[in-house]
Amino acid sequence: MNVLVSGGLGYIGSHTVVELVKRHHDVVVVDNLYNADADVQLRIEKITGKKLTTYIADCADAEAMEKIFSSHKVDCVIHFAGYKAVGESVRKPLMYYHNNLLSTLVLLEAMKKHNVHQMVFSSSATVYSPENTSPFREEMRLAATNPYGWTKLMIERILTDYATADPSFSAILLRYFNPIGAHDSGLLGERPVGIPNNLLPYICQVADGTREKLSVFGDDYATPDGTGVRDYLHVVDLALGHVAALEKMANRPGAHAFNLGTGKGTSVLELVHAFEQASHLTIPYVVTDRRPGDIDTVVADPSKAEKELEWKATHSIEEACASAWHFQQHVKDSL
Ligand code: UD1
Repeated sequence: MNVLVSGGLGYIGSHTVVELVKRHHDVVVVDNLYNADADVQLRIEKITGKKLTTYIADCADAEAMEKIFSSHKVDCVIHFAGYKAVGESVRKPLMYYHNNLLSTLVLLEAMKKHNVHQMVFSSSATVYSPENTSPFREEMRLAATNPYGWTKLMIERILTDYATADPSFSAILLRYFNPIGAHDSGLLGERPVGIPNNLLPYICQVADGTREKLSVFGDDYATPDGTGVRDYLHVVDLALGHVAALEKMANRPGAHAFNLGTGKGTSVLELVHAFEQASHLTIPYVVTDRRPGDIDTVVADPSKAEKELEWKATHSIEEACASAWHFQQHVKDSL
C-alpha cells in the first residue's frame, strides 16, 4: 500500500517505517523534527537499504499538506505526529490542544480532498479512566487525567464521528501501553530531550553515568513489591502492530480500537532487575514519593488485537532492555 506516515522520524514512527518498508509498502514520511533528529532518515535508509521519501513539514500546515497529497498517491495515513509529554501538557495545555488537534484536522481535510479513506491513529492507554481495573479492555470507560491524554481521547472522538458520517472511512485507534526498547541494529531508539520522564530511558541514563541514580516513585502501591506495575512492550512489536492494523483492517470502514500490549505486568523494580541482567550493571536507586497522577497497575487485555489483527507481542522485557542499552551506548556514534 501507499502509506503516509506523519511523525515518521520519531521513536515509534521510525521503527514502524522500517517494518513497512520491509513489507514492501511505499512510504512517504512527514515530520517537523520537533521531537526527532534529521539523521533518523539516514538511519532508516541504512537499515532498509532503500531511499526514503521524506518531507520536513508540519502537519498543521495546510499548504504543505496539499502539496504532499497532490504529489503522491496515498492509500492510508499512519498518524504519529503530536506532542507527547504529560507534564509539559499540564503546563502548556493550549500548545498541546492546538498542535495535536489542529494537525489531525488538517491531515483529515487533506485526506478528504484527496480521497484517502483510512487512518491508523497513535492513541494511548492513557485514554482509559484510572477507575478501571486492569487488565484494560477496549470497551471500558474512557477519561483522561491531563491535556495530553485529552488530546488522544478527543482525536479518537473526532475519528469516530468522522467514520460515522462517512461510511467509506476507516479509523484504527491503536492504544499503546508502555513502549520500550530499540532496534536491534542499534541505529534507532528513544532519544529523550532533557531529563527523561519515562522509566527505561531514565534507567539507561543512570547506566551510562548521565544521571546519578533512579528515583523509584513510591513503593507503597497495592502491587506484589509495592512499586508501580506497567505493561511494557518492545517498540518493534508495537511497530508490527501497525503493519498488522494496516494490512488486516484495509477497507474495513468504521472506527475500531485495539490495545497494543503484552498482557503481562512488570513492576518498576522488576524492570530495574531485568535491565541489570541485560547490561551486567548495577542501577543505584532511591525510593521517593509517588508521582502525582500515577496509579498502581496498568496492564492491557490484548486479546482483541490477537484475534482480529492476528498480532501478538513476542519480545521479552530482557530483550527490550538489552536493545535499549545497546542503543544508548551507540547513540552518539556517527553513521
Ligand atoms: C507515562 C504517561 C502516559 C504515557 C506513557 C508512555 C504519566 C502520568 N503517564 O505513563 O500518559 O502514555 O508514559 O509515554 O506520566 N517511574 C519511576 N521513576 C521514574 C520514572 C517512572 O519510578 O523516574 C515509575 C512510574 O511511577 C510508573 C512506571 O515507572 O510506575 C512507568 O512510568 P513511565 O515510564 O513514566 O510510564 P507511565 O507512567 O505508565
